[in-house]
Amino acid sequence: MRFFALLPLLLLALYKLDQALPRFYIFDPQRLQELSKASIERHPNNVTELMIDLNQALRKEYGEKHVLPFDTNPEHWVFSNHGNAMGAMIIMHASISEYLIFYGTPLGSEGHSGVHLADDYFTILSGVERRFMPGELEATEYYPGDQNWLKRGEGSQYQLHGWALELAQGWIPSMLPFGFLDTFTSTLDLVNLWKTVYLTGKGMIGQLLVGKF
Ligand SMILES: *[C@@H]1O[C@H](CO)[C@@H](O)[C@H](O)[C@H]1NC(C)=O
Repeated sequence: MRFFALLPLLLLALYKLDQALPRFYIFDPQRLQELSKASIERHPNNVTELMIDLNQALRKEYGEKHVLPFDTNPEHWVFSNHGNAMGAMIIMHASISEYLIFYGTPLGSEGHSGVHLADDYFTILSGVERRFMPGELEATEYYPGDQNWLKRGEGSQYQLHGWALELAQGWIPSMLPFGFLDTFTSTLDLVNLWKTVYLTGKGMIGQLLVGKF
């Protein structure tokens, strides 16, 4: 009985916390798009050099303590299987309220975006992303420099052939089950799962230690 009396208070507290979440964001989607466009312009034909360049710009803009360095060492890259889609990613930032990664596949992949308690900003670096939502009969296409904003609570079918800079802002831990479930129902790639959990956890704890929620 007492618990039920407290329930409205608990809900109010959760609502307030949710409303306050954006105060913890450090990344700005518009700025990420500007920096991406500048790097694309400097390195239109080599995505490795583009990523090195963009990573340096991001570290300069947001500080080295918030953006991990980029390399092509396989130790720092993981597969991501989610919603029937597959690609690889390198985590540059992971905290409770944000993550920033390079994500993509040179082969092309297609699936469900998932429905998240987070906004997702997908800036295309190379190749093309196509997406559609129920009620649309034509795909929307995104090319290098374009940014696809998947709003919190929305889902889409998407196809990515190339590479993107992805920023998520919201309740990041709530997104993790979607990112991990395909491992148990399909790939059984537990080594990759462990690597992903380790790198994500390390990022989140590291950010908490420097005061970033
Ligand atoms: C792209 O740049 C990287 C790093 O400089 C280089 O190793 C690679 O060979 C280049 N790739 C192409 C296709 O030119």
